Amino acid sequence: MAMRLDKLLAHYGIGTRKEVKTYIRKGYVQVNGQIIKKDDFKVDYEKDQILFDGQPINYKPYVYLMLNKPSGYVSATKDNVHPTVVDLIKGYHQYDLFPVGRLDLDTEGLLLLTNDGDFAHKLLAPSRHHSKLYYAKVDGIMNQEDVLEFEKGMMIDHYQCQSSHLTILNTNENTCKVLIEIFEGKFHQVKKMVEKVGKKVTYLKRIQMRNLKLDENLKLGEYRELSEEELNDLMNDL
Ligand code: URA
Repeated sequence: MAMRLDKLLAHYGIGTRKEVKTYIRKGYVQVNGQIIKKDDFKVDYEKDQILFDGQPINYKPYVYLMLNKPSGYVSATKDNVHPTVVDLIKGYHQYDLFPVGRLDLDTEGLLLLTNDGDFAHKLLAPSRHHSKLYYAKVDGIMNQEDVLEFEKGMMIDHYQCQSSHLTILNTNENTCKVLIEIFEGKFHQVKKMVEKVGKKVTYLKRIQMRNLKLDENLKLGEYRELSEEELNDLMNDL
C-alpha cells in the first residue's frame, strides 16, 4: 500500500508531521538502503524496508487490542466523570483507538479496541447476531425454569430478545454463578434478563466474543494485540 513517507512516520508516532519532515531532510530515514530526503516520497509499507535512525519501522495502518477491562472505566474515548478504557492504553496514542461496543462501567472482561471502523461496524451489526459470553455472580438461585425463559427469548423494554443460553455453574445458599450467552448487545441486556426472572447480577465479566476468548494471562487493565490467528478467526465471515 503506497503512502507518503512523512505521513507514515508521523502516524507511526515518530513525531508531528512538521518534526518528521525535518528528520527526513536531515537524512535520518532510509528506504531500502537509500537515504531519502524528500518528505513526499511514496513508500509501500508492506514491501519496503524503512529505517528511522537505523531502527526498523514496522508500520501497520490498523491496530486490534484485547483489553481485560476493569470496573470503573467507561467504554468510550472521552468522559467528563470517569476514566475511559482508552486512558488505560499506553503507546498507541497515534492510532486514535476506540472501543468496539461497550461494557457497563462496573462490568469487567473482554473489550476490543481498534482504529478499524469497518471491522468494528461489522462486529457490532445487530443483524449478524454474534455470540457474546458472560460470567456472572447472581443474588438469588437461578433454576431450570430460568434456563427455559432464556431459551425462549424474553421481552425487555419492548424489545424481543433472541434466544439465549443460561448455564448454571454452581449454587450456594442465596447466590449462584452462571454463564450467559447472548447474541445481541442491548443496553444492560444481561442484567435486565436476570432481573426479569427475579434475580440480580452482582458481578459481570465478558469472557468471549464469537471464538475469541479473553486471555487469562491478562490482569485487569492489561491488554495485548490480537495474534494474527485470533484476528483472522474473528474476521472470518464477518
Ligand atoms: N450486559 C450487561 O448488562 N452489561 C454489560 O456490560 C454487558 C452486557
